[in-house]
Amino acid sequence: MERIENVDLKNKKVIIRVDYNVPLDDKQNIIDDNRIKASLKTISYCLENNCKIILLSHLGKVKTEDDKLKYSLKPISKRLSQLLGKKVLFINKTSGQEVVDVVSNMKNQEIVLLENTRFEDLDGKKESSCNLELAKFWASLGDVFINDAFATCHRSHASNVGISKFCKKSCLGFLVLLELDNLLPVIENPKRPFTVILGGAKISDKIETVENLVKKADYILIGGAMAYTFLKAKGIETGKSLVDSESLEFAKKMLDENKNIILPIDHIASLEINGKTSLKDNLEKDDFGLDIGIKTRSLFKEYLTKSQTVFWNGTMGYYENEAYQEGTKYLCEAISKLKITSVVGGGDTASCVINMGYKNKFTHVSTGGGASLELLAGKELPGLKI
Ligand code: 3PG
Repeated sequence: MERIENVDLKNKKVIIRVDYNVPLDDKQNIIDDNRIKASLKTISYCLENNCKIILLSHLGKVKTEDDKLKYSLKPISKRLSQLLGKKVLFINKTSGQEVVDVVSNMKNQEIVLLENTRFEDLDGKKESSCNLELAKFWASLGDVFINDAFATCHRSHASNVGISKFCKKSCLGFLVLLELDNLLPVIENPKRPFTVILGGAKISDKIETVENLVKKADYILIGGAMAYTFLKAKGIETGKSLVDSESLEFAKKMLDENKNIILPIDHIASLEINGKTSLKDNLEKDDFGLDIGIKTRSLFKEYLTKSQTVFWNGTMGYYENEAYQEGTKYLCEAISKLKITSVVGGGDTASCVINMGYKNKFTHVSTGGGASLELLAGKELPGLKI
């Protein structure tokens, strides 16, 4: 697909697919607005080109009428308006005559945000199953479609893939281009040694990524709950730590076939998830392993220090509790001191790195969780293929 700067946007009506799937608290306050900030470059460029701008995004998974109350994009429109210093007109509809009327009366440099595209899922999963009627409707609203929702590129939905089949012109926005510029070299031609840090809870979501990365990386450092599945697969006591039992066979196979997987050698343990902690080389049967220990931190740092490229996905501990963020913070600090290419996959790891104040110390912090993992698994992303 073409790059945004190669398309004539002057005075056009543009539909931009953004990813405003941001975390909200139970009062619908935005907890992390990085994805909104990341969309500003493309929006500002379209404003400079005197465009009328129609924004589409999903938020959360919408399965019931109640989900509509939790996942309205209205709070997002307010934040976007603050960030741009400009009015953003929010329409609480996703399709229909009201949308057509508002959009046909737009003037240049006006911005409209439609309601959450996944509200259409309540009517036969129209958005998520890439309903072509719906895609055609959205495409009819503008002249050019800009896909700037990198974090959604692994989905084939009506608002990112379907729509491009009907728009006269489609292109990739600046955020997608920035992500590709930073992620593709890591997977295609990393400077070596190339180290991958993996963590987080489940392996089953990351099987293909792990399979692809063990072949490409020089070292794989595994922390977080994911490490306990690998340790258990080796026959090591993991106590009450979170183990992804469906993935034990896979973990064993990976360990048998690859000698570049490095696992924790000590742990921050506790008898309760939020209880008093102790540092242990070996977990006992009642222990929860909740963060990597001090020796593991130093061991991981040794590998990082001899690396030229690092890709990181998954926190090192149960990061929801601040007491178990130390391992993750330690690695942030270690990487921040190195002059290497360092890329963080999106999701929880990106939020942690940003909240701990290390964003600018990394070469790139991706906005895409699943999308960056699928890219690193060597898969073709439907949102980029169009
Ligand atoms: C993400 O947060 O990874 C993207 O917004 C995609 O969301 P989804 O997993 O609900 O499709």
